[in-house]
Amino acid sequence: MKDRLQLAIELARRAGGLILEGQGVKLRVSKKGATDLVTDYDLKSEQMLVKGILEAYPEDRILAEEGTNTDSSSGAQGDAEHLWLIDPIDGTTNYAHGIPFYSVSIGLMAGDRIVAGVVYDPSRDELFHASEGGGAWLGDQRLQVSETHVLEDSLLVTGFPYDIRTNPDNNLDHFSEFAVRSRAVRRLGSAALDLAYVAAGRFEGYWELRLNAWDWAAGVLLTREAGGIVTTFSGDDKVLEGDETMLATNGRIHEEMMGMLRR
Ligand code: IPD
Ligand code: CA
Ligand code: CA
Repeated sequence: MKDRLQLAIELARRAGGLILEGQGVKLRVSKKGATDLVTDYDLKSEQMLVKGILEAYPEDRILAEEGTNTDSSSGAQGDAEHLWLIDPIDGTTNYAHGIPFYSVSIGLMAGDRIVAGVVYDPSRDELFHASEGGGAWLGDQRLQVSETHVLEDSLLVTGFPYDIRTNPDNNLDHFSEFAVRSRAVRRLGSAALDLAYVAAGRFEGYWELRLNAWDWAAGVLLTREAGGIVTTFSGDDKVLEGDETMLATNGRIHEEMMGMLRR
């Protein structure tokens, strides 16, 4: 039987190819919230991924952004050790606007550990993968976080929650503070790729609030396996059980960023 990481890599590539095809046709776009979009290709990508996983591992559990939750559809699977966390298109707003910055994100948990993660950017054909204890990779190149020690020389990235209009805890305060304390702050629109870029040493740090596990499961493992640190804003490394905040850095600027985020 194909191992689960290999399967995730193959499926991410296949789903990436599918969503690239969607960039050449007229998309059907609908709203899940005031600013939260979904396209027909989010659904097609999810269907393909779920089918591919269940064909190979029918006992495994799956939680995916566009509605798949095997635990709610079949009680029998609730005990299975492996849980797949899937974002069929991370960066749907970019995708719907034809901006080539989005990804397919597949994270795999065994019990409470993230054991494998794949983030695929089909526009650049960049496939990031990691396995627990096996390092983080971009293709066959091993990844290492950056060595920058000071916030002032750090390039950061963040995102904003979909309830930005109604919830005053919307990250705009932190955004403006970091914008004047770091080299610059980007908002690229795909949390999974933001984390993969921290792993690759392209960014020194990333923070965001109120993400879902499918946004970050793969990227968190990538960052950690590349030597980085991921915690909540208050320093707890159990981000799944935490307070829905996330800080991922090269480790060297972690304390300094945490100090600012706690304020
Ligand atoms: C979103 C992206 C974005 C982040 C949002 C996510 P989606 O995911 O990752 O960068 O800021 O918090 O929800 O909706 O495009 O899958
Ligand atoms: Ca997402
Ligand atoms: Ca998504």
